[in-house]
Amino acid sequence: MVSASILLLYSSARGQTRRVCHTLTASHPDIELVELTPDPPAWPGRYEAVLFASPTYGQGGLHHVWTTHLPQLVEAFTPSPPRLGGLLVLGDQRYHARTFAGAVTAFKPYLQGTALAPLLDRICVLDPRQDRAWEQRCASWVEAIIQDSRGATYDHDRFDRSARR
Ligand SMILES: Cc1cc2nc3c(=O)[nH]c(=O)nc-3n(C[C@H](O)[C@H](O)[C@H](O)COP(=O)(O)O)c2cc1C
Repeated sequence: MVSASILLLYSSARGQTRRVCHTLTASHPDIELVELTPDPPAWPGRYEAVLFASPTYGQGGLHHVWTTHLPQLVEAFTPSPPRLGGLLVLGDQRYHARTFAGAVTAFKPYLQGTALAPLLDRICVLDPRQDRAWEQRCASWVEAIIQDSRGATYDHDRFDRSARR
């Protein structure tokens, strides 16, 4: 099997993160979408970019499937580390204001200094229930990563226009 160059691995207990990830990949079908479940993940291929998406549970913690599988995932990606990465974290500002999106902090000790450290470079925090613009913010987050994966961080047209002035 030839792997897509971008992987989005997500977990979801109650369906929100699943919905967000399916919405996002509906407009980006080139992103390979995989759900992390309690079963050991089969794996992985070589990816230009790897994205992890998790809801926040406990008191600002990760959904339990991540704590179960993260050490093994880091090891699995070590031979062919992704060049780019990102984290998408869901939380609830209204009922969990003090620990809002704490999964971001919970991911850090697992990823820092590892082959998956690039995932800490681009972080998107969402509360889809409170934020009507979540779809747009989530799309901008993924678009920036896609642009980087194509090496398109430089706007040639803009440069040409200013050079002609
Ligand atoms: C038991 C429980 C604990 C939660 N703890 C937090 C929390 O500490 N911080 C936070 O921001 N959201 C918290 N949430 C909100 C969830 O992260 C949020 O509802 C998320 O959208 C759930 O995603 P899912 O439907 O994909 O599982 C909690 C929700 C539940 C039910």
